[in-house]
Amino acid sequence: MKIFLDTANLESIKKFNDMGLLDGITTNPSLLSKEGGDPKNAMKEITKIIHGDVSLEVVSTEYSGMMEEGKRLRAYGENVVVKVPMTPDGLKACKSFSSQGIPVNVTLIFSANQALLAAKSGAKYVSPFIGRLDDIGQDGMNLIKEIKEIFSNYAFKTQILVASVRHPLHVIDAAKIGADVVTLPPDVLDKMLQHPLTKIGLDNFLADWEKLKQKNLDTKI
Ligand code: E4P
Repeated sequence: MKIFLDTANLESIKKFNDMGLLDGITTNPSLLSKEGGDPKNAMKEITKIIHGDVSLEVVSTEYSGMMEEGKRLRAYGENVVVKVPMTPDGLKACKSFSSQGIPVNVTLIFSANQALLAAKSGAKYVSPFIGRLDDIGQDGMNLIKEIKEIFSNYAFKTQILVASVRHPLHVIDAAKIGADVVTLPPDVLDKMLQHPLTKIGLDNFLADWEKLKQKNLDTKI
C-alpha cells in the first residue's frame, strides 16, 4: 500500500520523506490556506521535494476554468496530479485531462456510485473521504470495501486513495481491504511510528549499557 502525506506543510513533508515513507502528497485548498504562506510557492516546492505523485487541486467550479488551472498546475512538475471535485464539470475535466495523458485525482467522493463514475471518466485516483462519513454516522470503511469490490469486478485501473483518515486503525483496516493508497495527516503517521513498549524497551537497553560504564569497561562502540 502506498502512503501519501495529506498536508502542505513543508517541514512535515521533509521529515517523513527523509525516512523514506512517502510515495506522494495530497493537498487541498484548506490545507494550503492553513499554512498561511504563498500557496503557489508551496505547491512548487512540494513538487520538487517529492518524486512521487503530488495532487494539486483546482478551485474553479466550471469546466474551462478547471482546464486552465489544471494545465497551470501541471506546469509545476511532471509528478503533478490534477485534483478535481466530484461534479459534472469535474468529471468532464477528468475525461479531458486523462485523454491527454494527464493524471487526475477525483476528490470529495462519498458513495460507491461516485467512485464508479470517476473511474469511468478515466481518473487515476478516486478519493473517498472516510473520516467525514464516520463524522455523520456512516461507516466510511464500508465505502472502501464497496469500491474495492466494484473496481475488482471490472478490473478498473483507477486506484483507491483513502482520504480523510483520522487515526492509525483506519490505516490497518484500509490495508486489510487492499486499498491502493492512504493519505495521512502528519499526526496520524507520527502515531503509527510509536509504541509504548518500544520506548520502554529502548530505555531499558540504555540503562543496562550504563551499568557497564560504571564497571569502567570500554562502552564506546
Ligand atoms: C484528501 O485528499 C483530502 O485532502 C483530505 O484527506 C481531507 O481530509 P479531512 O476530512 O481531514 O479534511
